[in-house]
Amino acid sequence: MAGGVSLPPLVAAVCEAGGLGMLPAGYRTPEQVAGDVVDVRDLTARPFGINLFVPHRVDRAAHEAAVTAYRDALLPRAAALGVDPGTPSWGSTDHWADKVALVETFAPAVVSCTFGVPGADAVARWRAAGCEVHVTVTSGAEALAAHAAGADVLVLQGHEAGGHRGSHDPLADPEVVDHLGLLEVVRSGAAGELPLVAAGGVTTSGDVRRALEAGAVAVQVGTALLMADEAGTTSTYRRALRDPSLTERVTTRAFTGRVAGAVRNAFVDEMGPLAPSAFPVVGQVSSPVRRAAAEAGDVQGVHVWAGSGWRAIQERPAAEIVRELTG
Ligand SMILES: Cc1cc2nc3c(=O)[nH]c(=O)nc-3n(C[C@H](O)[C@H](O)[C@H](O)COP(=O)(O)O)c2cc1C
Repeated sequence: MAGGVSLPPLVAAVCEAGGLGMLPAGYRTPEQVAGDVVDVRDLTARPFGINLFVPHRVDRAAHEAAVTAYRDALLPRAAALGVDPGTPSWGSTDHWADKVALVETFAPAVVSCTFGVPGADAVARWRAAGCEVHVTVTSGAEALAAHAAGADVLVLQGHEAGGHRGSHDPLADPEVVDHLGLLEVVRSGAAGELPLVAAGGVTTSGDVRRALEAGAVAVQVGTALLMADEAGTTSTYRRALRDPSLTERVTTRAFTGRVAGAVRNAFVDEMGPLAPSAFPVVGQVSSPVRRAAAEAGDVQGVHVWAGSGWRAIQERPAAEIVRELTG
């Protein structure tokens, strides 16, 4: 889920309703993640997961000029909001080594990874600590790589998904395949022996039933919970999801440099064509501007991550949403 907000209440509510809540650790400091884990454990005794972003080194020489141009193009929007764009941190690994150790120490029921395949050493340490290792994949080739690396479960994320595509190569355009198509591809290969979780566009009990009938053991949802009472979704984001003038969902690199499913707004139109595939650096540059837009209530200036089912999502307690999906 999106950074900068406290998500333990949502994670705990999902767990209490019989789901498996994932605590997002991407772009949070190890100290923040440790605090979140303690909070979740205060709120529920049920099993939960920790979700990590597998880091990629960004090629500074290849991307710096385009990132500078992106930053320059962002200046008028930033000035109107009274902030400066952020400064790129080219060498960041998002505290990967510390987070690998943190997961080993806390030993949650599940550690899930997106954006790549964790190294064999990390997988071995987590499994020895008793964690089940889930890896998000967006193609048949990625499924085979995750299988070879020792993943216990694969999360098949289709192009209908809200938020970032979990593709392993941040430079390549992700395959345009939905979760049912991915289930078919992955089940026909060696990785099909693993339990498969379907993700992307799941917002109704009918979506869940179809995914299970197609061979998934479970589904993963993001968008369906965005308007849940417990969700940390900002008020601007909530208004954007209900704004009648925002009618189209696109995939775009506009906000962070990584392809993501989002509702189209002015930021997408202006910055999408300029955004290089330099994740997370582009996100570091745009972050203060997006945060200021959220504070100003500007639905045209925030990332409105959304899956294809966004129009059907409900403002209700998370437990009710989970029970209705599984009922
Ligand atoms: C607001 C938002 C934030 C997300 N953050 C993460 C994240 O931090 N880590 C992750 O693995 N997936 C993240 N996802 C993707 C979900 O895990 C899942 O693949 C996706 O939500 C499924 O599609 P749906 O949104 O249509 O349900 C996020 C999705 C959304 C909508």
